[in-house]
Amino acid sequence: MTVLIIGSGLVGTQIARLEVEREERPVVMELQPQRDAMAQLVDLDRIELVQGDVLDPFALARAIQEYNVTRIVHTAANPLLTAGAQRDPLPAIRLNVMGTTHVLEAARIFKMERVVFCSSSVLYSSMNPAVDSGTAYTEEALPRPSTIYATTKLAAENLGLNYARWYGLDFVAVRYSAVYGPWNGRGGGGEPSQLMRQLVEKALKGEEAVYRDRPSEMVYSKDAALGTALACHATGLKSRVFNITSGAIFQPDQLVRELKRVVPNARLKREEVPPDWMAAGRPPQPMDLTRARAELGYEPQFPLPKALADYVAWIRQHPPAP
Ligand SMILES: NC(=O)c1ccc[n+]([C@@H]2O[C@H](COP(=O)([O-])OP(=O)(O)OC[C@H]3O[C@@H](n4cnc5c(N)ncnc54)[C@H](O)[C@@H]3O)[C@@H](O)[C@H]2O)c1
Repeated sequence: MTVLIIGSGLVGTQIARLEVEREERPVVMELQPQRDAMAQLVDLDRIELVQGDVLDPFALARAIQEYNVTRIVHTAANPLLTAGAQRDPLPAIRLNVMGTTHVLEAARIFKMERVVFCSSSVLYSSMNPAVDSGTAYTEEALPRPSTIYATTKLAAENLGLNYARWYGLDFVAVRYSAVYGPWNGRGGGGEPSQLMRQLVEKALKGEEAVYRDRPSEMVYSKDAALGTALACHATGLKSRVFNITSGAIFQPDQLVRELKRVVPNARLKREEVPPDWMAAGRPPQPMDLTRARAELGYEPQFPLPKALADYVAWIRQHPPAP
């Protein structure tokens, strides 16, 4: 079995590491490989790293054929996810919708055993309440997205589900909450991911670090990768869409407490934030993990205290370049 991982940033590199730990040799296709950042997380001698663009269907076909790929995990994303897509919609629509279509089409033609697509909790948080008729925070909610990024993620999920329905493609989507964790490269997720990264890095440097006065649900990148790897390899699945998250909302004071436990000298400053402009006024609610637990055997390994301790230890070993 050879897994092709498309995109190697915050999450894709962790998925490559897990494949290597399974004694597999994954193929990683990345538009702009950041070898130094990747090498801090995965042994590059144990992966095939291919520079390539998912928007080039021939590059995709070449990688599949050359390395006898049998499964694909599609993690590619443009910088800053939601905020990036709001600022610059066309590239986001192109990558998230057409890039995913290329993956689905290549998977259909080359008869892949499975495609795993990285989707998002924005399908719960970025909804338009006036027209949404679904049940919030379960996989079969019927969201009407209120942002460009969420719209592209829903479109890509639905294309995948129709490739499954009409062409028998084994398609699975994993919906992450905001991801944080070790990564010293460019990219690295959306605004919540960047804020967490800045918070921890500045706290460690002894600089004033700002946190937002808002409850959040986030997932450590190692757990996001674990859920994705399980979705890639699980057998006997009944469902095609799975929440992958920590399963718990943390309050700002809990974040402060846990960060100070591992960085006692941290200088933390609370930032008042307006109500979430995307959240449609919904009170936050943890994403439901019942299905991921039952079908994937997924159990988050890194609740906030353990994740922060692991993350801080990693940054101490791999200080970001000034
Ligand atoms: N980080 C989060 O908070 C979060 C939350 C929910 C869902 N997701 C989704 O998870 C996936 C992984 O996110 P991430 O945080 O690792 O993002 P990231 O930005 O760290 O990594 C994405 C990688 O994709 C690469 N890429 C971009 N365009 C490409 C192309 N045309 N061809 C090949 N590679 C390309 C980028 O260079 C980057 O290295 C994305 O699909 C994202 O939308 C992320």
